[in-house]
Amino acid sequence: MLLTNLHLAQFRNYKEAELTFGKELNFLVGNNAQGKTNLLEAIFYLCHLSSPRTAEDSDLVMFGSNEALVAGLLQKISGDYELEVTIPVKGKKKATIDGVAQYKLADFQGILICVYFSPDDLKLVKGGPSERRRFMDLEISQVNPYYRYALVQYNKVLQQRNNLLKERKIDIKLLEVFSEQLIETGSLIIERRVAMIKRLNLLSRLLQRRLTDLKENLMLEYTPSFEIKNDLKEDFKKALELSLEEEKQKGYTLIGPHRDDFSMMIDDLDVRSFGSQGQQRTVVLALKLAELEFLRGEAGEYPILLLDDVFSEIDDLRRIKLFEIIKQNKVQTFISTANPKDLEDIISKQRKVFEIKAGQVGVKQDVTFG
Ligand SMILES: Nc1ncnc2c1ncn2[C@@H]1O[C@H](COP(=O)(O)OP(=O)(O)OP(=O)(O)O)[C@@H](O)[C@H]1O
Ligand SMILES: [Mg+2]
Repeated sequence: MLLTNLHLAQFRNYKEAELTFGKELNFLVGNNAQGKTNLLEAIFYLCHLSSPRTAEDSDLVMFGSNEALVAGLLQKISGDYELEVTIPVKGKKKATIDGVAQYKLADFQGILICVYFSPDDLKLVKGGPSERRRFMDLEISQVNPYYRYALVQYNKVLQQRNNLLKERKIDIKLLEVFSEQLIETGSLIIERRVAMIKRLNLLSRLLQRRLTDLKENLMLEYTPSFEIKNDLKEDFKKALELSLEEEKQKGYTLIGPHRDDFSMMIDDLDVRSFGSQGQQRTVVLALKLAELEFLRGEAGEYPILLLDDVFSEIDDLRRIKLFEIIKQNKVQTFISTANPKDLEDIISKQRKVFEIKAGQVGVKQDVTFG
């Protein structure tokens, strides 16, 4: 898919900006604090209706303004789309597709699909299990509306079940009802996640090998909160029964996808505990590039790729390998950097360079090096 145009108004430090993107490589070049990440954030927002770096939508509105606007023109196999979101400082955001208001925002998500990678994503390896669950949930949700729905349902019943477990005298019949719903929706979530990690395992293994000149073998494995032998729902049910006493004591649910994780090993060593900084960064990069293929498999076409400041984090060999992969891919890519020298290795006619300065965008077909 291609994001051909982007229009911003009162978004972060952009008073007004109109950009026409190239089909392949789009570079965002500028000094620190000029608005490169803000621009990628705006594109991310068109995908997810949320920001990768703040939970408060109001942060996105330019200081002193009432509302921000992000709009984009998208070309997909299924047709062209005009996406628009207005984000008020107070109140609800409004989204339109081709001028038609969307009452269910979930219908808007999943139209523009993206893979986003920033230095902050190191938390995928270094952070706790919730980071990895968020990663799986966000990615599967992009291409699977049923999954998105199941997550909402699951969290609802989980909350109800937890509240019940905190009560002094527990209504056992009601607990059974909640447990059944938990198993029903929870199993759907686990199934999709297991399938995703299986696929990502194959893809990221190849990419990790390429990024490290065939030196490192990466392995991913889904690690559920209970042992899955043959029948997922049966095993889930048994595990819940076994942990009921402990759950009553603690007052919350101990079994289910909200407690799951996935492991990352390089040649049988856990990357989280034993990987070097560089290895950990490369693993995240391999995961993100693997996502491109995963999402293509699910959506039938490539998502767009957003790379925020990735070069400051990896050594020359890995950077060159990354460029090779990007160039071969034919994925529409947006790359930000404060150092245009980083781009010297990318020789491609298909590149477009944007100079970002204090929320203003200038277009240059090429950067001057040196
Ligand atoms: N709501 C807002 N209104 C106005 N300005 C904002 C708002 N939010 C952030 N900014 C400003 O946007 C500026 C640029 O931020 P951004 O993160 O995009 O920089 P950058 O070009 O990615 O820099 P770096 O190279 O350091 O990553 C910051 O200086 C910040 O003060
Ligand atoms: Mg930045």
